[in-house]
Amino acid sequence: MHHPIEDYVVDDKALDRAAAMLRGAERVAVLTGAGVSAESGVPTFRGTDGLWEGHHVEEVATPFAFERDPKLVWRFYNARRAGLRTVHPNPGHFALAALENRLGTERFALVTQNVDGLHKAAGSKHVLELHGNLARVRCTGCPKIEDRGTEPLDDLPHCSACGHLLRPDIVWFHEALPEGTWAAAEDAARRCQCFVVIGTSAIVYPAAGLIEVAEEYGARIIEINLATTDASHSMDLGLYGPSGQILPRLVERLGS
Ligand code: OAD
Repeated sequence: MHHPIEDYVVDDKALDRAAAMLRGAERVAVLTGAGVSAESGVPTFRGTDGLWEGHHVEEVATPFAFERDPKLVWRFYNARRAGLRTVHPNPGHFALAALENRLGTERFALVTQNVDGLHKAAGSKHVLELHGNLARVRCTGCPKIEDRGTEPLDDLPHCSACGHLLRPDIVWFHEALPEGTWAAAEDAARRCQCFVVIGTSAIVYPAAGLIEVAEEYGARIIEINLATTDASHSMDLGLYGPSGQILPRLVERLGS
């Protein structure tokens, strides 16, 4: 059970310390999770009941589920894709884009577990999507990968090139992360001097392992979350409150 934060007052001193850590870093890497999109109205995974039509997300987001009942899995993803039509980046996403602008893209990497595309929509450029992207579909029969935006897809959509069944271009439980993206994320965690962990329960591996990599390679680590997490013991500093409020205040402190 994690410590619930009763009030969300983040004091100026803590923000000053975080800003000093960012300023002192030649390179900054950020790891985000569902919490960064919560204020945009995208539900988190381990929130209230964590269920979709009575299914645990872990039950519909696996290759076995897709083999057993592809229609059910597509209904789940089509519902999530439809949900994206009405969501927009929040001030937390925009603040991270502003941080990248301030540092320069070569000094910054944004590693995300989110599949909602909101970081890019906010203007972030160096985004490493560890778990794929809801807008993209991938063929189960040929190498075709396509961005279909939020356009409604059939219950069982098929590839226009080879006719095989399409699947969401999402990393499911029991699947490996995209190799190149993972290698780049590990590299960013090793090379940064400041690692900022935002809105993730930090329990899904290998993504959460990046915190250990950053720690091992000597980065200062900041956590921004509504509550403490399994990874809080690794943190040099915790800022507890909504990331959509904390991040703009933090980035503003850095000046231009
Ligand atoms: P979780 O739902 O596990 O955790 C969300 C975290 O965000 C929690 O620690 C909340 O306290 C925090 N949070 C909620 N609202 C917030 C806010 N406004 N500001 C700051 N923090 C807030 O989501 P993830 O850690 O992203 O994987 O989950 C990791 C992975 O598990 C997902 O990428 C997905 C899932 O199963 C796959 O689909 C492969």
